[in-house]
Amino acid sequence: MKTKKIKKVSEKVVVTGGAGFIGSHLVKKLVELGFDVSVIDNLYSGKEKDVHSKAKFFNLDVRDLDKIRPVFKGAKYVFHLAAIPSVQFSIEHPGITNDVNVNGALNVLTAAKDAGAKRVIYSASSSVYGEATKLPIMETKIADPKSPYAVQKYMGELYCKMFSEIYGLETVCLRYFNAYGKGQSVTGPYSGVISVFLEQKKKGKKLTIVGDGMQTRDFVHVSDVVNANILAMKSEMVGKGESINIGTGKRYSVKDIAKIIGGPVEYLLPRIEPKDSLADISLAEFLLGWKPKIDLKKGLKELL
Ligand SMILES: NC(=O)c1ccc[n+]([C@@H]2O[C@H](COP(=O)([O-])OP(=O)(O)OC[C@H]3O[C@@H](n4cnc5c(N)ncnc54)[C@H](O)[C@@H]3O)[C@@H](O)[C@H]2O)c1
Repeated sequence: MKTKKIKKVSEKVVVTGGAGFIGSHLVKKLVELGFDVSVIDNLYSGKEKDVHSKAKFFNLDVRDLDKIRPVFKGAKYVFHLAAIPSVQFSIEHPGITNDVNVNGALNVLTAAKDAGAKRVIYSASSSVYGEATKLPIMETKIADPKSPYAVQKYMGELYCKMFSEIYGLETVCLRYFNAYGKGQSVTGPYSGVISVFLEQKKKGKKLTIVGDGMQTRDFVHVSDVVNANILAMKSEMVGKGESINIGTGKRYSVKDIAKIIGGPVEYLLPRIEPKDSLADISLAEFLLGWKPKIDLKKGLKELL
């Protein structure tokens, strides 16, 4: 495993979506590692107060290539997280979400390439797989996106690979499974189930289980997602648009989560969603030297 030593030098990095849930944790870590961090976020859902005070904040929209271009000047690494990451919203608004999730990704790749950046680390999604035919899910499974959001995130991956092939821009795509942790949005019925349950418990409300609660997910702690990004920035084994699962290799049902969090529950009507999800994470270990450090019970205990 070849991974360059991460030195505390002021290399410039750009983080799009750096005011959001995962982005704000990533920005904090990059600042702590000594990077010169510039954040692009239009505060669609992110909050400026969550951006580390030592990062430079640019309230810009990734749909506007001309405006974002100057921010990339001198950047070595670009982390592209800005997105509207809601399956349901994308079903209701395929056009708006396509503009942000696909055109936004294309703009970020273009700006990174034109500025001479070395590598783009793209936040991809396990939603690309659709319904699992075999568990755990390996990256070799053929993409079968089941929502506009999943199609759009997959398009971003294809653009990454294409940019590596024809322009020589290094790219790598991290397919997150269900990220959770501090700062995750609790608003809206399609927020992460863990953050919704924790909020309901805090307010003394019943935990709302969708369907029979037997659907299973692979929950990965945000600090592990951040570490995967840091390793993907420096690994010498990637750079050609590789798609890599970022999960834990363990799955829990929604009912299990409700049981761990504790309290009365109520059942809601089922919705269309994959039954099971579980990542095979051997490629992440092989290419990035990455392994998750926080298991769900520990992560939940901290949040509780
Ligand atoms: N959270 C998860 O479990 C998960 C799973 C798979 C993939 N992802 C991907 O990870 C990335 C980050 O997800 P998150 O959970 O932190 O979401 P988030 O909604 O908290 O963060 C997204 C950020 O992008 C910003 N943004 C939205 N539209 C923008 C635009 N047009 N221009 C500039 N900024 C814009 C938002 O304001 C927000 O700060 C997304 O690309 C998402 O698709 C997340």
